[in-house]
Amino acid sequence: MKRIVILTGAGMSAESGLKTFRDSDGLWENHNVYDVATPDAWHRDPALVLNFYNDRRKQVLEAKPNKAHLALAKLEEKYDVNIITQNIDDLHERAGSTHVIHLHGEVNKARSSVDPTLVYELDNWEMKMGDTCEKGSQLRPHIVWFGEAVPMIEKAIPIVEMADVVIVIGTSLSVYPAAGLVNYAPPFAEKYYIDPKELEGKNIYDFKIIKEKAGVGVPDLVEQLIK
Ligand code: OAD
Repeated sequence: MKRIVILTGAGMSAESGLKTFRDSDGLWENHNVYDVATPDAWHRDPALVLNFYNDRRKQVLEAKPNKAHLALAKLEEKYDVNIITQNIDDLHERAGSTHVIHLHGEVNKARSSVDPTLVYELDNWEMKMGDTCEKGSQLRPHIVWFGEAVPMIEKAIPIVEMADVVIVIGTSLSVYPAAGLVNYAPPFAEKYYIDPKELEGKNIYDFKIIKEKAGVGVPDLVEQLIK
């Protein structure tokens, strides 16, 4: 079976109603990264950080997989598919994709602030101050913040290196190490980049550019690949 590796970013979930980060009216236009998505922010004002991710979680719970998520799940009928996402939502899984790596964490999980191996599924949108792990320490969102290591990158690199086809969808490729994954795609692999915006100065010169929203570009490409 041919191997397809898919790298996704916030644009993948935009048509499910979840905001991207760097587009106009994106999340980072209305929130300061340093107030809500760094270890310093957590130490300074954990309640503010919990609230920011409570809002994200509420929206994710209300969102549904869009046509692009559903199309990618269909690829598994014909290919060995791995999805490597920067997204913290679970829309790929809910669409039916079975191999999903979350580089930047998962909003519907919490983890201990003293022992990173203690990770818990959340059963509703709200995390509160005073919610603790079994060791008695405050629970934090299971998210990779700016300035923190990205442990899943080690798992992602060899998967990209083995790809026959690489598809990058809805990411500005501005956050590393995630953005650097495109450099591990084998020279002979078929490569596609699907995004409505022109991407300049990024290392995707050998990618076929499909200048479309995910909801249009992804189902079209999937149909082509499945034929
Ligand atoms: P960005 O907000 O940087 O980029 C979103 C991309 O999606 C842009 O290139 C848009 O043109 C594109 N886009 C918008 N609507 C789209 C649609 N309907 N279909 C397809 N593409 C569309 O988001 P990311 O690249 O995902 O990290 O950002 C990477 C990381 O930066 C995030 O994981 C997050 C953020 O800070 C952390 O919080 C650690």
